[in-house]
Amino acid sequence: MRTPRCLIMALGLSLLAATAQAGDAAAGKAKAGTCFTCHGANGISKVALYPNLAGQKEQHLIKALKAYQSGERADPTMKAMAAPLCDTDIENLAAYFSGLSCH
Ligand code: HEC
Repeated sequence: MRTPRCLIMALGLSLLAATAQAGDAAAGKAKAGTCFTCHGANGISKVALYPNLAGQKEQHLIKALKAYQSGERADPTMKAMAAPLCDTDIENLAAYFSGLSCH
């Protein structure tokens, strides 16, 4: 019997995609209300000092939020914003903002 290699590859890829996109964007949107004040409702900030989050890499957003929590990245505002978030909140917020168009 021939091994259905395409099928195995497709399964592998969908598993990879599933782990890379662990967050739930809809749940992230529900949590993002406070973030909009500074980062813009569509993740595009109107203030020079506030970075855009729309279209940013999901893993980068996760890493940044965890770094604010741990103090590895020092910013008093974002430390306060990140402090109450649990890992699931962070993954969901990252999924939401990374999925927004940056245009
Ligand atoms: C009061 C304004 C304000 C609010 C509200 C706010 N942020 Fe921020 N955010 C900032 C500022 C200012 C920076 C840049 C800080 C720095 O220089 O590290 C930043 C940086 C970030 C970064 C790093 C971006 C990058 O590419 O390095 C992420 C991610 C982020 N914020 C996510 C959030 C999320 C998620 C929320 C809502 C829970 C939120 N922020 C709420 C002001 C805010």
